Amino acid sequence: MLKRYIWLVVATVFFAFQIFIDSAFALELSDADRTVQLNEQGDKVTLSLKQAKEGRRLFGSICAQCHPDGNTKTNPNVKLGQQDLAFATPRRDNIEGLVDFMKNPTTYDGEIDIAELHPATSSSDIFPEMRNLTDDDLYNIAGHILIQAKIRPSWGRGKTFF
Ligand code: HEC
Repeated sequence: MLKRYIWLVVATVFFAFQIFIDSAFALELSDADRTVQLNEQGDKVTLSLKQAKEGRRLFGSICAQCHPDGNTKTNPNVKLGQQDLAFATPRRDNIEGLVDFMKNPTTYDGEIDIAELHPATSSSDIFPEMRNLTDDDLYNIAGHILIQAKIRPSWGRGKTFF
């Protein structure tokens, strides 16, 4: 009898723990943490907790396999850390720059369109995971990247591991 239910108990504890981790994550982000650069002109915006969580979820399911902890597996020279984003052309250290990248990604110097190589909404025929993303989703993913770049010391600081 007990044996039959043990997996149910394990699963319940596991999911309860997940929910706990999720809310702990949300709670520890202050307003200041969630305030990021909106555009190159220097305007700022504060994401809501809900937006930050949603951005984290989407980044985790679509981007993190190549960008774990803000690094870039197949091109460690182009990471998602504050410095890397700031020195890209155009600048990617703001929400509009990142949303633009997710729509029309380019090489680091801005010269070459890489939508056929990098997931983008403009190439969702090749990257179906980008197909259903709304502008709000892109905004939240961009916000998540900028929040992490700001608050996580390890974000985008990894060494080459491949
Ligand atoms: C298949 C692996 C892969 C996936 C999935 C992926 N990326 Fe990338 N990303 C890369 C590579 C490789 C580069 C470096 C491109 C280059 O400049 O050659 C890159 C570059 C970037 C850059 C430019 C960083 C800079 O410093 O200028 C941003 C921003 C970015 N990715 C965001 C994302 C986001 C957001 C997602 C999820 C929607 C995502 N990536 C999913 C592989 C990936």
